[in-house]
Order: sequence, then C-alpha cells, then structure tokens
Amino acid sequence: MSASAWSAFRAKRSRHLGLVLAVLGLGACKGTTPAGAEAIEPPPEVVAAVAEAPAARRMPEGEAQPPRLALGTHGAVSSAELNASQVGVEILKKGGNAVDAAVAVGFALAVTHPSAGNLGGGGFMVVRMSDGSVAAFDYREEAPGAASRDMYLDAKGEPSNERLLGPKAAGIPGTVAGLGLAHARFGSLPWKDVVEPAVVLARDGHELDSFHVEDLEYGADRMDKAGYAESAALYRKPDGSAYAVGDRWVQPRLAATLQAIADGGPRAFYEGPLAATMAQEVSEAGGIWRAEDLAAYQAKEREPIVFSYRGHEIITMPPPSAGGVVLRQLLAASEALDLRQYPWRGVDEVHLFVEAMRRTYADRNMLLGDPDFVTLPMQELLDVRYVRQRMSDIDPRHATPSDQVGAGLPAGRESEQTTHFSVVDGEGNAVSNTYTLNLGFGAKYVVPTAAVLLNNEMDDFSVKPGSPNIFGLVQGEPNKIEPGKRMLSSMTPTLVVADGELRAVVGTPGGPTITTTVATVLRGMLDYGLSLDEAIASPRVHHQWKPDQIWAEERLDPKVEQGLIERGHEIRKRSGMGHANSIEVDPQTRGFRAVADVERDGGAAVAY
Ligand code: GLY
Repeated sequence: MSASAWSAFRAKRSRHLGLVLAVLGLGACKGTTPAGAEAIEPPPEVVAAVAEAPAARRMPEGEAQPPRLALGTHGAVSSAELNASQVGVEILKKGGNAVDAAVAVGFALAVTHPSAGNLGGGGFMVVRMSDGSVAAFDYREEAPGAASRDMYLDAKGEPSNERLLGPKAAGIPGTVAGLGLAHARFGSLPWKDVVEPAVVLARDGHELDSFHVEDLEYGADRMDKAGYAESAALYRKPDGSAYAVGDRWVQPRLAATLQAIADGGPRAFYEGPLAATMAQEVSEAGGIWRAEDLAAYQAKEREPIVFSYRGHEIITMPPPSAGGVVLRQLLAASEALDLRQYPWRGVDEVHLFVEAMRRTYADRNMLLGDPDFVTLPMQELLDVRYVRQRMSDIDPRHATPSDQVGAGLPAGRESEQTTHFSVVDGEGNAVSNTYTLNLGFGAKYVVPTAAVLLNNEMDDFSVKPGSPNIFGLVQGEPNKIEPGKRMLSSMTPTLVVADGELRAVVGTPGGPTITTTVATVLRGMLDYGLSLDEAIASPRVHHQWKPDQIWAEERLDPKVEQGLIERGHEIRKRSGMGHANSIEVDPQTRGFRAVADVERDGGAAVAY
C-alpha cells in the first residue's frame, strides 16, 4: 500500500476507534445466534435436532465486555474468548513466540469455548516467521478406516442424521497432532509449558459470564435432544441445573486428558491408554473408530498458497481446505472486474462480487477434495487467466441463474461451529489458525472418560454427491467419503505481507461463508484502504452457487438489497456471518491492532 493510502488508512483508524469505543461504552455488543446456528441451511428433518437457536441477544446491562480492540507493540492475540486470549499473551510475555502462544490458545479454547474450541476436531494453521519462512499445517479430521462412500444413506438412499449427530458423525480428530506439529516445527518453549495453562483452566475452572452460560446451556440442551444425556451433564452443574453468571466451571476429566497430553506429548492422544479408551467408548456408543485409526493419524505440513494482490503477498491454506483456492479466485476476479471502481458495498460492487462467488463456488464444490486422494487442477484454478475467462460471462445488470453455471473445468480429472484466532509477537512472527468441530458442539456427543467432545465433520464430505450438506453446499465426487480421506473445508486462515513485513492476520469461522468473509475483509482493506475495523464492520454477503440465493447480513443497506433483487437475485437475510478475530500491523510504527469481531458475542482482543 502506498504511503498516502496508509495515511488515509491511519486517519480512518482513529475515526473508527471512536466508533468501536462507543459500541463498548454502550455496554452491549451486537447480539448473535450461538455457535452452530448461523451457518445452517438444514434439510427439514434435522432442524429440530441441530438448527434452531435462541434469538439474538445482548449482554446484560452492566456486565463487563471483553475487549474488542487492543493496541500493542510486543504481541497480540484476538480469539473468540477472553481467557484464551489472555493465555496467549501470557505465553508471549514469558518469552514464547507466536506459535507457542497459538498452541496455548488452541488448547485453552478447548476448555473455555467448548462449542468450537476443541481436542476432538481439526483445522488449519498458517504460520509466517520473521525470517520469512512460511508453513501451512493441515490437521483436518480424517474418515475412519471403516468409513465408506454411502455410509450415511438410509434405506431410501437419502442422507441420515447419523452424519450429524452422535459418534458416527465424527472424523478422526486432528487438533492435538496439528498443534503438536506446529510446536515441533516452530515452538520455542517446552511443550508442557504451552499445554499447562489449559490444564489449569480445566482443573481450577474459570468464571462464567453470560456468553459462556448461554453457550453451555445451548450445548447441553442440544445434547439432551440428541439423546446424549451423559454428555449434556458435563455442561451443567452436578445437580443437573444450568450454570449461572459468576459460577466457576471446573472440568476434572478434561483436565486429566490435557495433563496426559502435557506429560506424554501429542501422541498420548493417539496411542496408549487414552487413545484405546476413546476408541473403545466411541465404538460402544455406535461409532466406527478403531484404535489403529487414531494411531495412524498424522498432521501434515503442506505448501501454502502464496500469491500477490495489489502489491501485497497473500499466504493462505491449500487443500484439503478450499479456502485458499477460492480466496485466490475471488481476489483475482475482483481485480479482473476492477471492482474497486464501484462504491464499497453498493449494488454494483456487491452484484459483481456475488457473481464471482457463484462461479468460484461452482468450481470449489465440484472440483476440490483431499489432494492425497484426488488430483486437483490447482494450476488452472490458481491461474489469473483462467479466472478472467471464467468471469467473462458475468452480466453486469442481471444475476446468472446458478443452473446455467457449471464447474469451469472437467470434474474428476482424477482429480457455526468453527473458531478463528490470530497471534503475533514482537519479532514479527505470526499465526493464523482456524479450527472446528463443524457445527456448534459438533456431534453433540462427548467421549465420556476423556471428556472429548467430538466433531461432526463427516458431513463436510459429499455424503451423497449432488445433495446439499447441512450448509446447503452441493458437492461432487472428488469429495466423496473414502477411508483415511480428509473432507473438504472452507477454512481460510490467511496472512498478508507487504515489503517483506507482516501487515495482517485474518480469518473467521462461518462454514462456507468463511472464504467470502475473508475475501471481503481483505478487499475492504486492500481495494478500498479501509482499516481492519472498518473492513470487519462492513456488511457481508455470501453466495455459494447453490442454493441460488445471496445470504446477506441484516446490516446490508436495504436500498442495496432492493437493487440486487431488481437484478434478479434472491436474498436470504442472516444474522452476523463469521467472527473475524484478526490483527493488523502498522507498517510505520510496527504497532499491532487486534480486533475482535463485534458481530458475535465472546470475542476478545488482548495486546501489550
Ligand atoms: N466445517 C466447516 C468447514 O470446514 O468448512
């Protein structure tokens, strides 16, 4: 970004700081649906089980708000939960680097943010160290060895609820291995030191605010409805009543599991007594895990996708996340269509961006899968010339029906809820990490002895190619279920670099809306010179090819909504999409500006 653009950028920042503080001063952050609810476009039969959510809410009058904005020069963490952000900053203050802090935050969120923080799920981490080295860690869940293509189809050949609820919905978890691999590659503190804060939080407990209390009761209620009362009991008081604000939540079984991981290293989760007990209990409860599936699980280091955009280097996640491919295509399309000539979030800009999303998601859904199982047309998909050609049939005045848009390349050429956190340290090392159980509280089933809440990530596969998953994504054969395969994801942990220096750490949860949210935040900053706060505060829209509708946040200008309808779009209003807990770095002062997205309760930015 040019010096003048950065001056404008900083001027806008100080204006926006006033706005953010005003929001904080009101003592109420914007209400949102709880984890797992916002991204769901469910088939009717699963609505009762997983989809309904309490109405948007506001923090009670007078309750302290977690900080949504933090400035610092030594280090910063922005995550979905205050205790976890504080753990990260404490690790930095002890001399740990950004990777040490990120690993500690990942474990802490498994204790304090159970709807999405996890040991029983998986995710992706993108790292850049101050010497310029980059890495992408894939710790996505894997289909168990006994999994098969049609394992979730019922007698009528339709997808059953087993793909979403209970132990059969769970892939083999990758989180512990992934955090372990990142630590082994880049960590500087002993492993035990970075796991210990989570042990303490679980063993000694943490005080609950209204965000925690509502989230715990939401999870317990869904577990009860799914028939897992023993799991639900872990999120309530011993007498079965709901926790109240100010109560201390102690999790002794989870503390013992974390202690075993702290003492035995990451493999203690996958081999030995803990793994054997988990495999046995999952199998007794109707799942298909075997001890050898856990023993075989390995996190993988992959080559990040790196590309230039408007003078910046973007470093992001490759498959089995679709995030990086889609982000590259959306930004290349923005450049090809010269979107920045139109007013930000006006009808022309939104229409054209949506048309780019429609085409990009058609490719995502039909062409991508686990690169260890299918050959992906990566070179073509990442080629700007391909993206230009793909966008060439966009009608600037009319929506293109999705039924007229297929994948842009031949398929099969052998071929909320998630959570995101961002960490930087004073050396300029940076971590962008998104991990998930899939829906909020995952499969609604907790492996009892280890107290590990399981993911329901198997639904991210094409359970029935051509049929929508819980997010409404219609996906193809490359993402069909196969033993040991990793399901396609949308998670898009991303780093932005300019002139060899870190500029931003960006990411978000939100199912398929993850990538469009990251693209929107980056476009706001890099196309329009907005501050990170302003980019995050901008209304979000999403299109994923099918269903053929724009998902638009309530905050989208009604005039823009009307203009889109006039161009032939169907609009479906949504409460906030995503939770873009991100950090930017001022290129002149090198100061950090950590921002927790106010679109959802519970985010906390901490810096020093
Ligand atoms: N489970 C959502 C995703 O990985 O995209």
